[in-house]
Amino acid sequence: MAGEIRTVSPHMFFRASAFAVLLLLSLDDEIRAVEAQTDSCDSDLSSFLPFPFNSSSALTCRPVWNTFVLRYSKAPDNVLNIVLSAVYTSGWVGLGFSRDGMMVGSSAMVGWIGKESRAHIRQYFLRGQSSSEVRVNEGQLLGTDVSPAVVLNGATIYLAFQLKFLAPITQQSLLFAFGAATPHHYRLKEHEDKTSVFFDFSAGTSSISSYPHQLKKAHGALAIFAWGVLLPVGAIFARYFRQFDPLWYYLHAVIQFAGFLIALASLVAGVSLYNKLHVNVLAHRGLGIFVFVLAILQVLAFFLRPEKDSKVRRYWNWYHHWVGRIALFLAAVNIVLGIQVGGAGNGWKGGYGFCLAVIIITVSVLEVMLCLRGPKKAAEPPSFQMPPQ
Ligand SMILES: *[C@@H]1O[C@H](CO)[C@@H](O)[C@H](O)[C@H]1NC(C)=O
Repeated sequence: MAGEIRTVSPHMFFRASAFAVLLLLSLDDEIRAVEAQTDSCDSDLSSFLPFPFNSSSALTCRPVWNTFVLRYSKAPDNVLNIVLSAVYTSGWVGLGFSRDGMMVGSSAMVGWIGKESRAHIRQYFLRGQSSSEVRVNEGQLLGTDVSPAVVLNGATIYLAFQLKFLAPITQQSLLFAFGAATPHHYRLKEHEDKTSVFFDFSAGTSSISSYPHQLKKAHGALAIFAWGVLLPVGAIFARYFRQFDPLWYYLHAVIQFAGFLIALASLVAGVSLYNKLHVNVLAHRGLGIFVFVLAILQVLAFFLRPEKDSKVRRYWNWYHHWVGRIALFLAAVNIVLGIQVGGAGNGWKGGYGFCLAVIIITVSVLEVMLCLRGPKKAAEPPSFQMPPQ
């Protein structure tokens, strides 16, 4: 009976794995195509922006994201003139300067049109992700004597300001964001959308590469689904549902196989993410690769397992069970690590916390049940596992 599933050949398995990799790579291309949309740079700023932001020809202009256009020029003493424009109806528009592409720890210039059409622009420090941790009039950006300006021209808002840097500014992680709610008492409500862009201010060689938000989300979601849901569930069937033979076996094999493919997709997304960001996440990366190697060993063990009545089967069982447990445990540690280094929000923490809690409670209950009925079963193994001589 259980022998039927042995027709899952390594060949089929590798074809499915290759398919998962291709799927991921094409997803990546699509994301890039969407982000490459352009915007116009030919508006004349001289009629509505004050000096020194009034000269369109002096400013380098780059459409960056959505309707956001960034214009800039370098002035002496490491001063940068910046004009950020975006289509605006209400709420706020912001430009953040970040060390690592993350929101936390960055400083941002935020502008909006308030009550009685009054224009506002303020610097904020993004101490954390919640609204209360976004502090007005704090932040590490240095201004100059030139007053910033905010102008609504038609449907487009322009934020114009000068910043002084301590060293010549070249490459910089920028955050662009907008919110729908107009700030009240300078308190910003959460953004509707945001992006992070690695921007090169070096003259002539300005290049834009968008922060791969989608890829990062895909990596996290796939990892949690594989390592946090499917693989533990598949292991639970193998440990606690032996009495439903051979159903447990089929479920275990199919679920672990699907979990392995999704874990592979997550790994591919993670590697691709690392190649784009080059962030220093040594522990998360190392542990992720190690855990995946354990998963490969588990799959190989499945194909190479000895017959049920073979003498070495005991050792194989012992090996298979313990490598599986260690892999699941380390994967859980690595997901927590990933949530931390990725600066994932409360939704991710809550989502994974919920998965983990459900799994731990289920395993505890099932383990107690197994102990209670344990001795009887152990004395008399099911006939399927050990056929009587
Ligand atoms: C910008 O404003 C300054 C000062 O008002 C003026 O001298 C200059 O001609 C303006 N430049 C453009 C391109 O309009």
